[in-house]
Amino acid sequence: GKVAVLLGGNSAEREVSLNSGSAVLNALLNAGVDAQAIDIKGNPLDCIKRVEFDRAFIALHGRGGEDGTIQGLLECLNKPYTGSGIMASALAMDKLRTKQLWQGVGLPTPPFVSLDGAGVETHYFESIAERLGLPLSVKPAREGSSIGIKKATSVDELVQAYNEAAEFDAQVLIEKWVEGPEFTVAVLDGKALPVIGLSTDHVFYDYDAKYLADDTHYYLPSGLDADKEQEISKLSELACESVGCKGWARVDVMQDDAGEFWLLEVNTAPGMTDHSLVPMAAKHAGITFEELVVRILEDTLK
Ligand code: DAL
Ligand code: MG
Repeated sequence: GKVAVLLGGNSAEREVSLNSGSAVLNALLNAGVDAQAIDIKGNPLDCIKRVEFDRAFIALHGRGGEDGTIQGLLECLNKPYTGSGIMASALAMDKLRTKQLWQGVGLPTPPFVSLDGAGVETHYFESIAERLGLPLSVKPAREGSSIGIKKATSVDELVQAYNEAAEFDAQVLIEKWVEGPEFTVAVLDGKALPVIGLSTDHVFYDYDAKYLADDTHYYLPSGLDADKEQEISKLSELACESVGCKGWARVDVMQDDAGEFWLLEVNTAPGMTDHSLVPMAAKHAGITFEELVVRILEDTLK
């Protein structure tokens, strides 16, 4: 049947999605799949209804594409789609709820508080800084590609970072800073691919370090010893399972000075650009980009 690659979207990650989607489309065409792209711009239902297709490859990132809304739309239209369903997509898009869930099932995630706007007073930030300790990581609860994320090393910076994050989402997450190193683990059909270690000269692995900089270092193999590689792989598989992910996902994890791992978040429609990490991990496991894309697509038939 005919495959529609959904790309673009209306979120802050539109540019990233256009890159992910074109790479996916090219790979499908090279693999001989009858595919075309649909740019989701404006009303998604209007965009989708203009094109005939049987299944969808979701290459959308962020709200409106990775958060269960498109997934719900496709279910209503009876079109199978790649990746997680409505619930897991919605949950994973929301870092706050994901962390609450992980706490509930006993998976490690950095301590946090959340704020949702209206009338936050300075003394409240002071008490957060006291309780969690500085530095802190301040994040919009539902964003991707590190958009709106800041490190705060003082109460003043915390207030400023909060105000900036609140421009992207009324719900803001304030999380204990874990210096790293950072790792990311692609999970394909419930099984972890080789772990990637990341290092950057930026304050953290931010938008520029992700997509623009050529001084971001990727460690593959990760540099972890075999026990630790196994531990983080298992942890990431459990992280996906607990959220209810399907098909593919990528889990971002920090390691602290004591060697302990801390789960940051799970991405249910991870980047597929030429800088992206899931394709990199797959390649290391002997899976070409084309094979990866076809495999993710085949999951829609299960
Ligand atoms: N949100 C970006 C696309 C990622 O997780 O790869
Ligand atoms: Mg993310």
